Parts: sequence; structure tokens; C-alpha cells
Amino acid sequence: MTAYLNGQFLPLAEARISPLDRGFLFGDGAYEVIPVYDRRAFRLEEHLTRLQRTLDGIALANPHSAGEWRERLQRVISESDFDDQSLYLQVTRGADSKRDQSFPKDLPPTVFIFSTALPSLTAQREDGIAVLSAVDNRWLRCHLKTVSLLPNVLLRQQAIDVGAAETILLRDGMLSEGATSNIFVVKDNVLLAPQRDHRMLAGITYDLVLELAAAHAMPCQLRDIAEAELRVADELWLTSSTREVLPITRLDGQPVGSGKPGPAVRRMQAWYSAYRQRVARDGEGGGRGDG
Ligand code: PDD
Repeated sequence: MTAYLNGQFLPLAEARISPLDRGFLFGDGAYEVIPVYDRRAFRLEEHLTRLQRTLDGIALANPHSAGEWRERLQRVISESDFDDQSLYLQVTRGADSKRDQSFPKDLPPTVFIFSTALPSLTAQREDGIAVLSAVDNRWLRCHLKTVSLLPNVLLRQQAIDVGAAETILLRDGMLSEGATSNIFVVKDNVLLAPQRDHRMLAGITYDLVLELAAAHAMPCQLRDIAEAELRVADELWLTSSTREVLPITRLDGQPVGSGKPGPAVRRMQAWYSAYRQRVARDGEGGGRGDG
């Protein structure tokens, strides 16, 4: 498996970083996870735009132009063993000669790319998943996709420990997102989602789901969603780049709606796969329009 590290393409097993890397010591860096279908990165422009937003948000200069990113990513994609991939990129503030929290001057950043097989989630997509709720105790800059993920790691593990697939987070009694995903609510045929702000990461999939809903005239409201609304929802959905749109059928051990994937998620999953097929045929530019 080929990885990219600081200007070199090499087998992943041979990639080495310094223990003084600020990503390792402080979680001082940004990352993206990009789905790849048939060796083409999906919504790459959007991912690179979000990477730039994260880098701006942590005052770290982007080491590459969009064209340079595309070249490096494409080579890792083409040298992978898999057609469908989960492509990972990370930029950290680099490896210093000492451990000091303040920003070092003129330190070259660390750039790392690797790719794994995209997991096949047919069962979850068809049957739905169980989730747990928990208090969102993360910082207040959740709109940035940084590698400081310990809070997300601990929150998600709470779900795994009880056999659920994800933890959904409540801040001041309002839905923010999942520990590693965005969450949508369907009530009376209206799609509800938290508005994008510092309390959540605006997912590339979140944006695409909203785009598809608009294109198909599904009524939609972006607003604060109270915990009580989750408990009486007709449907809950989980979205992320590598999982697309999954029905949530149990919340804290109770059935969501009928306890089975509802009709709205089936429509959205169909719109999503039609969109993917159109992008595969016409490219990203041709994929837009009537959803
Ligand atoms: N996570 N919110 C959080 C906290 C996330 O970690 C993710 C994705 C999302 C969904 O974003 P997108 O639709 O762009 O994947 C929302 C990735 C997959 C991860 O950390 O592995």
C-alpha cells in the first residue's frame, strides 16, 4: 500500500515521523477523509475547500495548491489495491527540535496521505443502526476538522461499548452531531438539521444531503433541535463521507419511529446513489443540477 509523506511516495509500512511531530505531541494538525469510488475522489473540491478552512482556523499555512494536492492524492489512489477507497490526508505543524507549545518559526509542516478500502456497509444501510446519546463535552471549535480527536474517540467508544454504532451529541440539550458524523431528523415529512456553526463539523455529506433535498423539493429546516424532538422523530439519519446515509433505528435502546428504516431515508439513499452514478458518468461538474 503506497503512502505519501513529506514529498515521498513509499510503502505505508516504511513511513516514519519524528516523535517530536506536533501532531503526535499536541494533536496540532488538520485532516480530511475523502471517499473514492472507482478510483475517483468524490467531492474532492469541497474537501480541499474545507481543509483550507481548517488550516486557516488553526493558523497553519496550506503547504500545497489544490493542483498539488490533486496530483499527490491521485497517485496514492492509483497505487492502492482497491477501486473504492477511504482516502486520508493530514497536515501537522511539523516536527520541532524541542517540545514547546508556541508555534515554531519556519518549521516545514508534515504532510501524510494514505488510503484504505472503503468499508462495505450494506447491512447497516439496509437495516439501520443503533445509537446512544451523550453530552457533547468537546471544545467550541467543532467546525474545524482537526486531529485533536480525543473527545470524539471517548464519546464514540461509549456507543461501541454497548454494541451501538455511534454516539449522538447534545450540547445544552440541543443536537450538535454524531461523534464522527452528522445527524438528520425527519418529522412530519420535514427534514430537520442543526444549522452549520461552531458546534458541529459541516460534513461534505451533510451539504450534499441538503442539496439533494432542495433539488427534490423536500421541505427542510436548519435550526436548533431539542433532545425531546429526537425522541419523537419519525426518522433519524446518520451521514458521513464513508458511510453516506444510514438509517438510525434505535436511540438509547428505544425504537426510532416504527423501529425500521422509514420511507424518507429510502428516498434520500436513492437520490444519493443516483447522484453518485451521474458523477461517475459525467464528472463532478455534471453531477449538479436537478439532484
Ligand atoms: N468524520 N462530524 C464529525 C465530528 C465527523 O468526524 C465527521 C466525519 C462528520 C461528517 O463529515 P463528512 O460528511 O465530511 O464525512 C461530521 C470522518 C469520516 C472521520 O473522522 O473519520
